[in-house]
Amino acid sequence: MTFSVEDFIARAQSQFAEAQDAASLENAKARFLGKQGEITALLKGLASLSPEEKKEEGARINQLKRQVEDLLNARRAEMAQAELTKKLTAEAIDVTLPGRGRAMGGIHPVIQTWQRVEQIFGSIGFGVANGPEIENDWTNFTALNSPENHPARSMHDTFYIDMNDDKGLPLLLRTHTSPMQVRYARMHKPPIKVIAPGRTYRVDSDATHSPMFHQVEGLWIAEDISFADLKGVYTDFLRTFFESDDLVVRFRPSFFPFTEPSAEIDMMFTSGPNQGKWLEISGCGQVHPNVVRNFGLDPEQYIGFAFGSGLERLTMLRYGVNDLRLFYEGDLRFLRQFA
Ligand code: PHE
Repeated sequence: MTFSVEDFIARAQSQFAEAQDAASLENAKARFLGKQGEITALLKGLASLSPEEKKEEGARINQLKRQVEDLLNARRAEMAQAELTKKLTAEAIDVTLPGRGRAMGGIHPVIQTWQRVEQIFGSIGFGVANGPEIENDWTNFTALNSPENHPARSMHDTFYIDMNDDKGLPLLLRTHTSPMQVRYARMHKPPIKVIAPGRTYRVDSDATHSPMFHQVEGLWIAEDISFADLKGVYTDFLRTFFESDDLVVRFRPSFFPFTEPSAEIDMMFTSGPNQGKWLEISGCGQVHPNVVRNFGLDPEQYIGFAFGSGLERLTMLRYGVNDLRLFYEGDLRFLRQFA
């Protein structure tokens, strides 16, 4: 029996190399080493040989078999390696990418002002109250002495809600924090000394107005609180808030239905970049007797003042921001400056 070892090796090598997956490699293996395989056939053929030939041929065949098995194992290892490389490439992580850092948040500048205002008024004995942003029209307007035909009640200025409250009163997004005067005063006994910061809403949008904005209401009611107290408290607040004595304050006569007399508070820096310009900062006044009555109090006995200031306005003046919309665009380049 003659066969060429070289031929076998060459064919096994090329068939193993051709196999691209485990299954076809097993098939190729079977063709040589399986029950019906060529090498198995060679071994079977030994039976018909003489003992001499058997010994010689047997040794050649076994050597061939080992060589083919080595080739098979080499190819298996190669395939496993290729598989691994493929997997590693697919799951590759670019370790040179910068890590995803955990950024530190910051407090929004308007909320910083809110906190600052609470702190300053707190230091002179004002409590802090919170109230609903969805109000009824009695608390937002009527109780505050705003007549039925007051322009602020118009759809052009106010966001009405398509619903009444359980007493049948129309609902709206509060147009100011002043309804908190009524809510708070009806629930507390004088002396009443409170601020109520919060969100307010009006149909208004330009560089100095936003449909949602923040106000802080102030209310001090007792038996002897005068306009002079308002002037003292508010002037002191502004000097503390702006950390400056270089500012002057004036009370310019104005009108609000819920205060009498009423005034706009203007301030002017006497140094710095805004120096010499009067800036309107707040509405205020002595609480109107009708409103004191709606507090459930006797206006002959109780008197006091109220003010309502824009938190955005205070923030803009403190930091020199000239467009209110910047506060609501969420641009981190802007916001980070205050963090
Ligand atoms: N509520 C008024 C406004 O929004 C401000 C104000 C409050 C005026 C309290 C007087 C007293 O414009």
